Amino acid sequence: MMQAGGNSRETWGSKIGFILAAAGSAIGLGNIWRFPYVLGESGGFAFLIVYIACVLLIGLPIMSAEMVIGRGSGRNPVGAFRVLLPGTPWWLAGAVGLLTGVIILAYYTVVAGWTLAYLYESATGLINSFNTAEAAQQAFDRFVGNSGLVVFFHFLFTVLCILVVSQGVKGGIERWSKILMPTLFLLLLLLIGRSLTLPGSGEGLKFLFKPDFSKISGEVILLAMGQAFYSLSLGMGVMITYGSYLDKRTNLFSSTGTVALLDMTIAILAGVAIFPAVFAMGLEASSGPGLTYVALPLVFSKLPFGAVLSTFFFLLLSIAALTSAISLLEVMVSFATDELKWVRSRATVIMAATAFLLGVPAALSFGVWSEVKVFDLTFFNLYDFLTANILLPIGGILIALFAGWAWKKGAEQEMMQGSTQKTLFRVWLWTVRIVAPIAVGAILISNLL
Ligand code: PHE
Repeated sequence: MMQAGGNSRETWGSKIGFILAAAGSAIGLGNIWRFPYVLGESGGFAFLIVYIACVLLIGLPIMSAEMVIGRGSGRNPVGAFRVLLPGTPWWLAGAVGLLTGVIILAYYTVVAGWTLAYLYESATGLINSFNTAEAAQQAFDRFVGNSGLVVFFHFLFTVLCILVVSQGVKGGIERWSKILMPTLFLLLLLLIGRSLTLPGSGEGLKFLFKPDFSKISGEVILLAMGQAFYSLSLGMGVMITYGSYLDKRTNLFSSTGTVALLDMTIAILAGVAIFPAVFAMGLEASSGPGLTYVALPLVFSKLPFGAVLSTFFFLLLSIAALTSAISLLEVMVSFATDELKWVRSRATVIMAATAFLLGVPAALSFGVWSEVKVFDLTFFNLYDFLTANILLPIGGILIALFAGWAWKKGAEQEMMQGSTQKTLFRVWLWTVRIVAPIAVGAILISNLL
């Protein structure tokens, strides 16, 4: 199908295919790896409540804004702003998004590499014989401390991304998402079943669902907001890019709502799978990025057919990571093909290689470079903090202001295609105009000061 500007763009095969692809981008390491450990470090339930509020008040409207910008322009993030308001500096918002995307992809592929390694070790029985929490923790520390191995798996995962993205998105992402998302869901349910029946698991549920509002601080609010942007793939142009493949009949509001709901459900379910196990096994909820890689192998060690389940789990986590990483890479590739006129294969390799190299310092952060710090953070933590808690929210503010003020007429026209109600549009408009920018801005500023 031809869009404005004459560049030929595919559209998604079906509405459900698009929703699952967007959910495939949203659902990833952010839900199953990052959400539980950030929540664990931030006091549990209080974080969950603030997180849900951030998804509803800030995430939903900004996701709609991204999709409307993408569909309206039929372009990558930089090109989108340029096509919609030519001759203005708005394209810079897209450029910030691209930069953010490269940094996220850089360390995302590192964690995805850990996942591949654990997949390999599950399949070969190496990590399914832990008797104690210490043993599982030591195995994780030993692995992430082995920088050569970590870089190898980081590289391997980058190659996977190149293989998929160089062949185009539609056939790959849409098809895989339709198969893998339901499977992931089933596996999570299975894990939850096991986790909840472990003796002592009640403590984990209490931690997750027992209100303790004294834990809410400025920092917790910032982390919850950052997690909302991160988990929904917002603020850097993924949803602009995916929206650019949308046909005009799709209702943007209902699609956004479905994607956000799926994403939130999976994150909470991941918490329900992990925390009862963490507490039952006597692990620290606040143990940071290693949480998933320590708690789950320990649980699997104690299950009948644990090695098989563990293999399935890390396979699915790898693939969930893949459908998210591809979306990050696709943003850069669509920029390079639209704007720089590179052919897809060249664009894919060069962009992926850039992210890979940038990721190497993050890969070394738990090993030989664990003492190398910038602003008191390792490269790994720096990339994560900078993107999730600063760059994505800034990108989100710019996107909201663009859709709500600068390009408001166009946004209205585009949004009403696919039959959106006028009232709903008004609510959305004032949220992106006022509520979201002020809330995000206030949280950012109060934390930076
Ligand atoms: N949303 C993805 C996850 O939860 C991560 C991601 C962030 C992907 C930003 C794209 C853009 O794992």
